[in-house]
Amino acid sequence: MAERILVAYATRYGSTAEVAEAIGDELQKVGAEVDVRPVDEIQDLSPYRAAVIGSPIYMGKWLPEPQVFIEKNQQSLRTIPVAYFSVGLTVTDRSPEILRNAEASMDAVRLLVNPVEVGIFPGKLENSGLSFTDRTIIKMIRAKTGDFRDWGAVRAWAQAVYRKIAAA
Ligand SMILES: Cc1cc2nc3c(=O)[nH]c(=O)nc-3n(C[C@H](O)[C@H](O)[C@H](O)COP(=O)(O)O)c2cc1C
Repeated sequence: MAERILVAYATRYGSTAEVAEAIGDELQKVGAEVDVRPVDEIQDLSPYRAAVIGSPIYMGKWLPEPQVFIEKNQQSLRTIPVAYFSVGLTVTDRSPEILRNAEASMDAVRLLVNPVEVGIFPGKLENSGLSFTDRTIIKMIRAKTGDFRDWGAVRAWAQAVYRKIAAA
């Protein structure tokens, strides 16, 4: 039987990749064998007994790559426990309305494959390194910048996911 856990992610500026690495590290600490990979590098799901899939939120939505990945692999993914996580800046404010809006970023993938768990984590935004378009949008909406990632919350979530996977 497949034993490994896949942590698959998309990222534009690297912060979601680091969240994925922390999730993978925590899953390893509790005893799992884990591969942490960008979604577009994954060819074969047969080695995996579970998958954790995440994306940053841009303009209210997941990036296209993980959505395409889930759509393409929905049949295999439906046979194993799957968890989703989103990384975004609005959720530094944990009000119910903001969290509901951030959860909506996962509506499309939830319809494809129903997850055993979802996580929504604050991300990171720096002005330097942004594409011209993204910098313009950020200026227009006067988004706050900084690193708001909460590693304790990410790691606690990874442990909860592991318990769900182990019980599935
Ligand atoms: C153009 C742009 C649009 C964004 N839109 C949202 C959004 O709708 N909701 C949100 O919570 N965060 C939004 N963010 C913040 C990103 O989700 C956050 O910076 C995230 O950590 C980026 O992940 P990455 O470094 O993996 O690309 C936006 C950032 C940019 C640059």
